[in-house]
Amino acid sequence: MSHEPAHQADKPPAAPPGNAFVIGHPISHSRSPLIHRHWLDQYGLDATYKPHEILPRELKRFFSRIRSGAFIGGNITLPHKEPALALCDQLSREAKIIGAVNTIHVRNAEIHGFNTDVYGFLANLDQNAPGWDDNLASAIVLGAGGAARAVILALIQRRATKIIIVNRTEKKAANLATHFSAHTVNTNIIFAPPGEFNRFAPTANLLVNTTSVGLNGTRHRWIDLSGLDRSALVTDIVYTPLHTPLLKEAAGLGLSVCDGLGMLLHQAVPGFELWFNVRPAVTPRLRRIIQADIHRS
Ligand code: ATR
Repeated sequence: MSHEPAHQADKPPAAPPGNAFVIGHPISHSRSPLIHRHWLDQYGLDATYKPHEILPRELKRFFSRIRSGAFIGGNITLPHKEPALALCDQLSREAKIIGAVNTIHVRNAEIHGFNTDVYGFLANLDQNAPGWDDNLASAIVLGAGGAARAVILALIQRRATKIIIVNRTEKKAANLATHFSAHTVNTNIIFAPPGEFNRFAPTANLLVNTTSVGLNGTRHRWIDLSGLDRSALVTDIVYTPLHTPLLKEAAGLGLSVCDGLGMLLHQAVPGFELWFNVRPAVTPRLRRIIQADIHRS
């Protein structure tokens, strides 16, 4: 029997070092390595966070590597967020409802899948637009893709009275309304075609763009913000550019705006905490680092 010296036994357990990853295709544009490496440096952790270019046909094999103990966990980005669902051993409630996994954690050789976009969306607004969910009567969500699913679940969690999904392809909006209505008793979820935006604008407290419109400065042709109430908040999940045409127009009308960079930063927090036992802070410094990288690209 071995006897450990008393001073060693009394030591608090150190955060376990480990290797973490982000997989996607393409992966070179991912800013997750910048975010997580900043935190690893800041907290002095002897761990790694590396990007891996993984093709769809390589996903299953990569999951075998994960299961064999090569990693403590990692992030999953396009196009693997949905296929990854079936490869996890356990799923969080949010990952199941959204139908996508963006974060995994290995526990006792089992792969646990999470979706941290709901948390990221909410934490961004909580940090940058405090009080945004007081009396959230009506929220308009533009888009009906993967990002819309996380935003709708987030708004359900904050007990929005009504969500209106407005999407170019009406059928997709209808499907989301049906899907999420089954997960709430408090929130009335409806859908409308773009042409009906003006009907819902005057009573909306919140407008969220979850479409890819805004990327590289593109604009919505069918959205006229002038019908929104002056107290409404407008937010965009697109963060390249940081000030999308939608946010610029909203700010020009005197509306409150919140950009989407904070969602990217905050969605990374739960993963880092799961892997390294440290809850990292989203600071102005981290934001400046990522903003500088966006400007460079
Ligand atoms: P993500 O997973 O990032 O949400 P996605 O699933 O491809 O991406 O969804 C993209 C969303 O942006 C969809 O709602 C799409 O509308 P359609 O369902 O009609 O395709 C929306 N979108 C993309 N380009 C658009 C455009 N030029 N005008 C309006 N909506 C657009």
